Amino acid sequence: MTAMQHVRPGAWYHVALPEADDFGTWRDQARRLVQAEVPPDRVTWSTPDGGDGSLFGAGPGAEKRLPSPRPEAPQVRASRAFLALAGKAVLHSDPERFALLYRLLWRLQTRPQLLDDAADADVLKLEGLARVVRRDIHKMRAFVRFRSVIEPDGSERFVAWFEPSHHILRANARFFVDRFASMRWSILTPRGSLHWDGEVLSEGPPAQRSDAPDGDPAEDLWRRYYASTFNPARLKIGAMLKEMPRKYWKNMPEAALIPALVAGAQAREAAMVSAGENRFEGSGRPDSLAEVAMQIGTCTRCAIGCNGTRAVAGEGPERPALMIVGEQPGDTEETEGRPFVGPAGQLLDRYLGPAGIDRGAAYVTNAVKHFKFEQSGKRRLHKTPTAGEIDICRWWLEAETALVKPRHVLALGASAARALLGRSPSIARERGKPIDLGQSRQGWITVHPSYLLRLSDGARELEAERFAADLALVADAMRQSP
Ligand code: URA
Repeated sequence: MTAMQHVRPGAWYHVALPEADDFGTWRDQARRLVQAEVPPDRVTWSTPDGGDGSLFGAGPGAEKRLPSPRPEAPQVRASRAFLALAGKAVLHSDPERFALLYRLLWRLQTRPQLLDDAADADVLKLEGLARVVRRDIHKMRAFVRFRSVIEPDGSERFVAWFEPSHHILRANARFFVDRFASMRWSILTPRGSLHWDGEVLSEGPPAQRSDAPDGDPAEDLWRRYYASTFNPARLKIGAMLKEMPRKYWKNMPEAALIPALVAGAQAREAAMVSAGENRFEGSGRPDSLAEVAMQIGTCTRCAIGCNGTRAVAGEGPERPALMIVGEQPGDTEETEGRPFVGPAGQLLDRYLGPAGIDRGAAYVTNAVKHFKFEQSGKRRLHKTPTAGEIDICRWWLEAETALVKPRHVLALGASAARALLGRSPSIARERGKPIDLGQSRQGWITVHPSYLLRLSDGARELEAERFAADLALVADAMRQSP
């Protein structure tokens, strides 16, 4: 049995955490300190990377052993919301983060609703740290670029160099393992490295830029892809820099094109307008639906593609008269891997048949191939994709259109309409009449079926009639030009 170590009045304590991202040890020690009634100004924290949240550091005055919890100490209170934010905030490189978290934990014991106080400086700081970390996690998912390397035994390994701003490497490991499970890969960073051999994930020491290879032939493909999807008419340099900060450019083969593309944007825009350019000519577009289905599975060109969910490909006959485009897969669709099989799909089916449209004869797909959601407890709540995300995913929709060659394309809702037309039309103004898409193809837009679900009873009846009428017009047009 170990002797109890009590808090001496005026004593202060130092906790040296073994790892910069060690949330578990911080949580255990913080609980113990709260239960021993050690106030925040009597504790300092450090990590091997030098993180040191105090003026004192681990100086000679610190007690050698942490105090024991008082036997009668109550349970430490920490809401799930706090633990979730704290779990992210510890990954920040701010040396004050552990001290901040302990101060908050301490204050939560007497003010359990503290996190609701949006004006509290500690709460604001915590939320800020967590936000920055979430962004860094996303940036890594979006901007890691693997280069192929042949190892001495002749096998292929994909190696990437990345410079995270915070301690997010380990937190992102599961994402890369799930996403690239069948490849052998390494991600090297100045904070450590990850290695996956197809079965086991291991960690390695920090690396240097020169440890990673510089480029490989596959990069030409990335470049051609990026050049083909770059739309000069929508160039917003500020937004682009925010999404893709310069610091990541050097690891991204396609970024080498940016200065030239930006410089030539005006000229290209004019050329596009006058020539009605086909942006995909020669861009390495997939040549079968099976290839589309396979490639979208590893697409990380936008934040939705990076969220770790399964991509949902379109389905239907190879040469349908009609292609139906929805917004994005929902929870059920993501689970089953098929479009429009959940509640919105069932509602759609109820209208298609009576309008004279055979769903089985149509190719059904979505503007965005991954499910965008917000986690709320156990539920995944739908989130609308941004215009930028739709525009990135449009490449896949155009690839599908080029393969299935439908005479008619029906877009359901604003996201699908944007994907179809490359602009955000007014559905009220443009519904119910064909839109010329070129190549003898007619586009049609109407509302999304789930819009009907959100209306009050009276309004729903009216809107449902309009929706049915829009579908009937498409069916008529299909009969006239099968
Ligand atoms: N909503 C859509 O837009 N598409 C689906 O596949 C499912 C729901």
